[in-house]
Amino acid sequence: MLIKKPADIRTLKKGGKILGRILSDLVKMCKPGISTWEIDRAAEEMIIKAGGQPAFKYYKNHPTEPPFPATICASFNEEIVHGIPKKDLLLKNGDLFSIDVGMEYPIGKRTVSMFTDTAITVVVGKTARKNYDLLNVTSQALEVGIEAVKPGVSISEIGRAIENYVKSQGKYGIIRDLSGHGVGYAVHEEPWIPNYYDKRLDSFIVKPGMVLALEPMITLGGWRIVTAPDGWTIKTADNSLCAHFEHTVVVTEKGCEVITRRPEEI
Ligand code: MF3
Ligand code: CO
Ligand code: CO
Repeated sequence: MLIKKPADIRTLKKGGKILGRILSDLVKMCKPGISTWEIDRAAEEMIIKAGGQPAFKYYKNHPTEPPFPATICASFNEEIVHGIPKKDLLLKNGDLFSIDVGMEYPIGKRTVSMFTDTAITVVVGKTARKNYDLLNVTSQALEVGIEAVKPGVSISEIGRAIENYVKSQGKYGIIRDLSGHGVGYAVHEEPWIPNYYDKRLDSFIVKPGMVLALEPMITLGGWRIVTAPDGWTIKTADNSLCAHFEHTVVVTEKGCEVITRRPEEI
């Protein structure tokens, strides 16, 4: 169902605010030497304590494929998304590290539970100038996408805005085979929201009450991707560094409201 009921939007806003705070707290843990498994444990604990449930744990892309085993997706450097947290995978100085986290909320109350989804890429310690630029361009691409969301526009216009912005900033790759998506009653709902102009979405019109996850994935190289042997981790085919930022937004009468803002963003 594309249009969410007002009561469900109220639930989404509560969940989104909690998830934004949780992601902010996880970012504070991103220091050299910590394992992605420890960050994952903390994420799960915080989500459960808040009255929610990890949305990605046991998620399946396809009924015959293995489920995602963790609460966060933890992806490094040339890995774009869906990295699996591990005890022996430690953050080190200079890593570009992305955390993607989703929550179903609330659990066990007599209300419909709703899904929110958000991600950030951070630098562990210090890195080269061009990598900070990549992070800035990707987080700004998300803001440009958010600006484009208002009733009456096509979903294709969101992608066009992101693509035009990224192209204006220099030589970056825009991942084509992964995209943003509708969210709310499930982790992934229609429509798919590519980060480039796709005319097939011209006829898909944004309306108040829709809930969208926008998530630009930008590289310092090309747009092609490969899946690692673990069946989940997706990385750039040319091993170029990449970044990923994501927010869940609710379409309002005038524009949209970002419901997963982290406290430091507001
Ligand atoms: N967070 C991803 C997205 O933004 C989905 C992750 S599903 C998982 O769409 F199973 F890989 F965790
Ligand atoms: Co996500
Ligand atoms: Co998403």
